[in-house]
Amino acid sequence: MRFAGKVAIVTGGGSGIGKATARRLAAEGAAVVVADLDPRDTADLVVKDGGAASSFALDVSDEAAVRALAESVRAEHGRLDVLHNNAAALGRDVYGRDLDLADLDVAVWDRTHEVSVRGAMLTCKHLVPLMSKGAAIVNTTSVSALVGDTDHAAYGAAKAALISFTRYVATMYGDRGVRCNAVAPGLVMTDVARRVMTPEMLAEKAAERLLPWAAEPEDIAALVAFLASEEARCVTGQTVVIDCGTTVHRPEHAIRKARAQ
Ligand SMILES: NC(=O)c1ccc[n+]([C@@H]2O[C@H](COP(=O)([O-])OP(=O)(O)OC[C@H]3O[C@@H](n4cnc5c(N)ncnc54)[C@H](O)[C@@H]3O)[C@@H](O)[C@H]2O)c1
Repeated sequence: MRFAGKVAIVTGGGSGIGKATARRLAAEGAAVVVADLDPRDTADLVVKDGGAASSFALDVSDEAAVRALAESVRAEHGRLDVLHNNAAALGRDVYGRDLDLADLDVAVWDRTHEVSVRGAMLTCKHLVPLMSKGAAIVNTTSVSALVGDTDHAAYGAAKAALISFTRYVATMYGDRGVRCNAVAPGLVMTDVARRVMTPEMLAEKAAERLLPWAAEPEDIAALVAFLASEEARCVTGQTVVIDCGTTVHRPEHAIRKARAQ
C-alpha cells in the first residue's frame, strides 16, 4: 500500500491509461480524483473495488476549471501527493486531423498543445501549491516526442514540449522535495487502440517491437505508480520510455525481422 493516506489526481482518468492509473493508485491506498472532460465510470469502479475516488469534470486547458479543481481538492483533502498529467486531445477532431503539414488546420495544432502542454502547465501552476515534500508529478508524453513520423507533427511537438516542461518543473520544485518525471509509451492497447487498429497496423507495430507483446494500460499504470512512489525518491526530471523496445534499435532490425517472417 504505497499510497495509503495519499491523495492523487489523474487527468484523462476517464479512459485508457488514466483509468488504469487511477485504479492502480487507488488499489494501493490513494484517494483518487478522476479529472477528465468526461470522467465516465472510473470512480465508480474504484469504489466498487473497495477504494476511494471522486470525479471532477473539467477541460484541463481552462484555467478557471483547473483553479476550481485545486480549490475542490484543498477543501476536500487539504493536500495533494500525486499528480498524473495524462490528458491529451486524441479524438478524430484533433489527433485524427493532425496529418499532412501542408493542409494542417492551425486550430488542430493549437488544440493539441492546449490540452497537452497548457493543461500540464495549468495543473502544475494551481496544484503544486498543495504539494509538500515527497509529492510527485508524472506526465504522460509519448515516443512520438522522440522520433519523427509522416503525420502527427502537432502531437509529437506537444509531447516533446512536455518532456522539456517535466525538466523545468523538476528543477523549480526539487528543493521543496517535489519530483517531476514523465513516461513515454509506444503503442498501448487501450480499448480505443483495439477498436481503431487494423490487423495490418498491429502487424507493423509487432514487427517494430523487440518484445513479443504490446503494452497494456496496466503496464503504464505500474510505471506511473513506481515513479509517483517513495521508491523513486531519487528520480526526477526523467522521461522513461515504455515501448517494448520499439525505439531502441536500428531500423534495419525491424526490416530484417519482417523479411524473415
Ligand atoms: N494509447 C497509446 O498508444 C498511447 C501511446 C503513447 C502515449 N499515449 C498518451 O497516453 C495518454 C492517455 O492516452 P489513452 O490512449 O489512454 O487515451 P484515451 O483517449 O483513452 O484517454 C484520454 C482521456 O483524456 C481525456 N481528455 C481529452 N481532452 C481533455 C481535456 N481537454 N481535459 C480533460 N480531459 C481530457 C479524454 O476524455 C479521455 O478520457 C495521452 O496523453 C496519450 O497521448 C497513449
